[in-house]
Amino acid sequence: MKVDVLLGLQWGDEGKGKVVDVLTPKYDVITRFQGGPNAGHTLEFNNIKHVLHNIPSGIFHTDKMNIIGNGVVLDPISFKQEIDELEAKGMDITKNLLISKKAHLILPTHRVLDRASEDSKGKTKIGSTLKGIGPTYMDKTGRNGLRVGDILNNFDQKYADLKKKHQQLLSMYDKEYDVTEYEVGLQEGIDCLKRFTIIDSEHSINNYIKEGKSVLAEGAQGTLLDIDFGSYPFVTSSNTICAGACTGMGVAPNKIGEVYGIFKAYCTRVGSGPFPTELFDETGEELRKAGHEFGATTGRPRRCGWIDLVALKYSVMINGVTQLIMTKGDVLSTFKTIKVATSYIIDGVETKEFPFELPENMEVVYTELPGWSEDLTGLKSENEFPEELNAYIDYLESELEVPIKIVSVGPDRDQTIIREEA
Ligand code: GDP
Ligand code: IMO
Ligand code: MG
Repeated sequence: MKVDVLLGLQWGDEGKGKVVDVLTPKYDVITRFQGGPNAGHTLEFNNIKHVLHNIPSGIFHTDKMNIIGNGVVLDPISFKQEIDELEAKGMDITKNLLISKKAHLILPTHRVLDRASEDSKGKTKIGSTLKGIGPTYMDKTGRNGLRVGDILNNFDQKYADLKKKHQQLLSMYDKEYDVTEYEVGLQEGIDCLKRFTIIDSEHSINNYIKEGKSVLAEGAQGTLLDIDFGSYPFVTSSNTICAGACTGMGVAPNKIGEVYGIFKAYCTRVGSGPFPTELFDETGEELRKAGHEFGATTGRPRRCGWIDLVALKYSVMINGVTQLIMTKGDVLSTFKTIKVATSYIIDGVETKEFPFELPENMEVVYTELPGWSEDLTGLKSENEFPEELNAYIDYLESELEVPIKIVSVGPDRDQTIIREEA
């Protein structure tokens, strides 16, 4: 069997959690391969909403195995909070969640460093979620980091040594930070992690593949936040793209099967950085309201704009997307016409290629398609799609040259339409 990968094609929050939950019945194992608690993946079923940050979105299907892979960065404190919430809902997931020994640990001082770095940047700040992601990946590539496997032996000393280094770094900033405040709950978090089976996940995942088990890898963030290909420096610190699934799980490229690329029928971004199709007017406000566009991790209002084909084509290319998933088409129901960005004009030159930088004075060329007024949220089959929605889908498919196989029409598990013919 091969590993299928589901990942975001925009700036995150495309609906990955919801769709992973919907697809989980088809798979034996669900994995996360990068990112950490900067992610907020929302699932809704039986009128209950769950937001997951560290744990794969297959967790509510209790007969499935979930794995936190080596490419993930794991914060014991945030992890325990999430486990506590699930246990309060009556779930015991110690049997169906495995954790890689090689996943790097987000330590309290990483969160302090994240905060200090953002404070010092002032206006040019990234808009980080302040979960310690950047400093933890810096320690990973700088070869200073601690990994989950390190909690099994002499952890306190290892943390004390790294904390010393971090405190030296912190002393270079103008402001003073109280580290102890951030350390509350660390020991409990480490104890909580120890209740789980900690594994050499690259072996386990490859053994599952050998045994014929099906694996779905769940991306976090989105392609435009990728450390190499996103809108640098306004990105996250991991490879969010398909290749990240190989390094983040120890799976060879020839073991990757389907690549599901998920996108919203419009576009959002949370945090700083360029966003060519951003709307600063009433339409943007309407999208935010209708789409409930507020961050699942930080609660910040998400910036909203029209769909961007230049960026989407780039994401499809970088990831080798084989199937598309479109979410939140229902949110567009109130718009008479829908705009789609088709090219950029930079320094007087028109381009359809996502460029090195997105300058503030760039222009965006749009095409306009008729909208639909029907409420999509109760639809059960593609045969019920309004004509204009079909036309929108046809247009996107022909531009992106990949079929849209799934259309999500609401936040609930049941509001998902699989297009048989696509
Ligand atoms: P993720 O980070 O990619 O998992 O996405 P988030 O959970 O951060 O954000 C997606 C939001 O849209 C969540 O509130 C979902 O419940 C919601 N959502 C997902 N799919 C749809 C959809 O098709 N329509 C609507 N209206 N909401 C959706
Ligand atoms: P999911 O998985 C949307 C953004 C932050 C910030 C930048 C860097 O829910 O789609 P970081 O904390 O990683 O250093 O922040 O990336 N960001 C996200 N935006 N969805 C996410 O995750 C995000 N994770 C990080 O807002 O601009
Ligand atoms: Mg999210």
